[in-house]
Amino acid sequence: MSAVDMRVDLGGIELKNPVLTASGTFGYGSEFAPFMDLCEIGGFVAKSLTLEPRSGNPPPRIAETPSGMLNAISIENIGVEAFLEERLPLLPEEVVVIASCFGTEVADYAKLAARLSESPRVAGIEINASCPHVKSGGIEFGQDPGLLRELVVAVREATPKPLLAKLSPNVTRIADMARVCEAAGADGISLINAVQAMEVDVETRRPVLWNVLGGLSGPAIRPIALSMVWQVARAVRIPVCGIGGILTPEDAVKFLLCGATAVQVGTANYINPIASGEVARGIEAYAARHGFARVSELIGALELPERL
Ligand SMILES: Cc1cc2nc3c(=O)[nH]c(=O)nc-3n(C[C@H](O)[C@H](O)[C@H](O)COP(=O)(O)O)c2cc1C
Repeated sequence: MSAVDMRVDLGGIELKNPVLTASGTFGYGSEFAPFMDLCEIGGFVAKSLTLEPRSGNPPPRIAETPSGMLNAISIENIGVEAFLEERLPLLPEEVVVIASCFGTEVADYAKLAARLSESPRVAGIEINASCPHVKSGGIEFGQDPGLLRELVVAVREATPKPLLAKLSPNVTRIADMARVCEAAGADGISLINAVQAMEVDVETRRPVLWNVLGGLSGPAIRPIALSMVWQVARAVRIPVCGIGGILTPEDAVKFLLCGATAVQVGTANYINPIASGEVARGIEAYAARHGFARVSELIGALELPERL
């Protein structure tokens, strides 16, 4: 038994520790089994699923930037049926699996959530309302409070499972979007998805991505993500899952201090496939070193200047 109680409750999803991996950066889980024990982490969010299999954008669809990664994969995935029938059974029973839904219509998301909820292996549903580089769906929902409300209400009606709404940073007032999700019945808020971005090749005078626009992830976005997590954690009562540029245990601790109940490790998985396990162990070491008996004591423990 560890000296630190690492358990957290993310909107009804009980996690043995607060570290998940982020959708689209950890495949369907089993791809990482050769590198690490999947039971070391709290759980993972699978690649966003659509009702039917979907191919993504043509290449180039990923590019390096000085402090992060640009991608415009566009939700390439095997579809919900192949996920349930072929991929979920490959995972050990103890692994906590959160399924991510994506669609171009509200009804698609609701159908997906209902179908996924039939599986006892799915611990929760995350709504991807925030993909920054798909023409229709995704970010359209995440940027319009009325559409976002409609989407969360519809998925809420479709599933009894814990429901997380994943928000886009590409909005003016992130706290307002989180409040909309809370009022519509979400059990938690995940943030942030990638920041809309582009890069240019001056020799060819072309955008580096086929899609022109992509999403920026990795360390470059961490301070943006921290500021948004901090604002959202103060605005809603439901738990927040912090995402954006987490490479190290210290990065994850920053999100917990800013009010996140759990975190998701994303781009780091591409650099170091065992990063998430290292982050989980490192948070525990940090908590022990600083005399915390429970990791939950770190949530929102940011020391603020008195004027705030
Ligand atoms: C290659 C790639 C694919 C992604 N695919 C998805 C996806 O399918 N669904 C989703 O909600 N987010 C997706 N994301 C966004 C991540 O889950 C995460 O929100 C974002 O990358 C920020 O975290 P990070 O800086 O730790 O990577 C993807 C990110 C990357 C880099």
